[in-house]
Amino acid sequence: MDLDAFTELLTPRGRRALAEAGELAGADPVAAATRLRRTYDAALTSAALTQAGLRERATAKFGEDARVMYFTPHGLEQATRTEVAGHRAARLIAAGAPEPRVVDVCCGIGGDLLALARAGCTVEAVDTDPLTAAVAGANAEALGLGDRVTVRVADAAGVEPERYDVLFADPARRTSRGRTFDPMAYSPPWPVVLDLVSRARTACLKVAPGIPYTFIPEGAEAEWVSFKGEVKEAALWTGHGARRKADRRATLLPGGHTLTATGVQAAVGPAGRYVYEPDGAAIRAHLVGEVAELVGGRLLDPMIAYITGDDPVDTPWATRYEIDDVLPFSLKKLRAVLRERKIGNVTIKKRASAVDIERLRSDLRLNGDRAALIILTRILDKPSVIICNQPSPS
Ligand SMILES: C[S@@+](CC[C@H](N)C(=O)[O-])C[C@H]1O[C@@H](n2cnc3c(N)ncnc32)[C@H](O)[C@@H]1O
Repeated sequence: MDLDAFTELLTPRGRRALAEAGELAGADPVAAATRLRRTYDAALTSAALTQAGLRERATAKFGEDARVMYFTPHGLEQATRTEVAGHRAARLIAAGAPEPRVVDVCCGIGGDLLALARAGCTVEAVDTDPLTAAVAGANAEALGLGDRVTVRVADAAGVEPERYDVLFADPARRTSRGRTFDPMAYSPPWPVVLDLVSRARTACLKVAPGIPYTFIPEGAEAEWVSFKGEVKEAALWTGHGARRKADRRATLLPGGHTLTATGVQAAVGPAGRYVYEPDGAAIRAHLVGEVAELVGGRLLDPMIAYITGDDPVDTPWATRYEIDDVLPFSLKKLRAVLRERKIGNVTIKKRASAVDIERLRSDLRLNGDRAALIILTRILDKPSVIICNQPSPS
């Protein structure tokens, strides 16, 4: 879809085509196209069907809002989901003025800017891509937020963050070769982003969860956020947005639980009755010691994020499994133990293990009607396997 095709979608005729395409969701694509072609030309038919398909996919991130929003395939892929953007916007409001003026310097199709506007911010947004900027503007209108949002086509490098209460930046992490994990390959480039952040009174910078710690600016608070157990992103807060108490934080959504670094060091010790797997946000934020303290546990290995303990503690910060056995890793021995216990169905997890899970599953030649969870890891430098009962419902 190009800008002309998108502009046509916003006309009354385009909206009718899109509404009809939406009603044909799930129909055979050829039949749907044939039906729309009776009324609309090929370009509008194609734009309407593509947009209807994107809206369908987007409900996973945007819920019911997706039914009236507009997307591009890349814009949807890169957009922040509603719950995560909403958490960040609420945090920003809590940090300062009730109706801050925010500049969003890489707005995409508007995942963040819409949440910021909903939370009460006035948002000026830019994006270098004209189609993406047009989509963001249309989304603000579609959700009744047009009076709080302006979007223009511009390069972030030309923005003056000094003119706003808050700078928000979510640089593109895609290059022509796909996703990049190197901040130096972000767009706008990392030095441009850091310059903007350094000039802002308050800044929030969204980055990949795997960002090397050396890239975190001095004095910033880094917050790792997971949603339903999956780490989604890290946000670097500076100025009034950073909570001075902590330089590292993990937050769990949708529950809103948050954990900060206390500096506690976990002890290391032998396996107890349970093994706890900390949430990925806590692991990324180097808060495994804090989680171990919460469950009264110790680490199985000083370098690996598996905690063991003797009591069944319920916490949103870790998933608990009951240990059946801990063995040095040997295919022969593991196969024999699983056979003997009639275990024919295994879930396999691993951390710090080079074993190929699918290969192992086939090599185990499982047979039996019982199920187990197998964790492959290293314990005090020895390849080990922890056999657990099925996950407890914690
Ligand atoms: C990760 S997306 C933003 C997603 C957005 N926060 C959301 O939730 O929908 C990054 C956006 O930055 C834009 N971009 C890349 N380089 C830019 C630059 N130098 N100035 C402004 N925008 C830029 C891209 O076109 C892309 O739309």
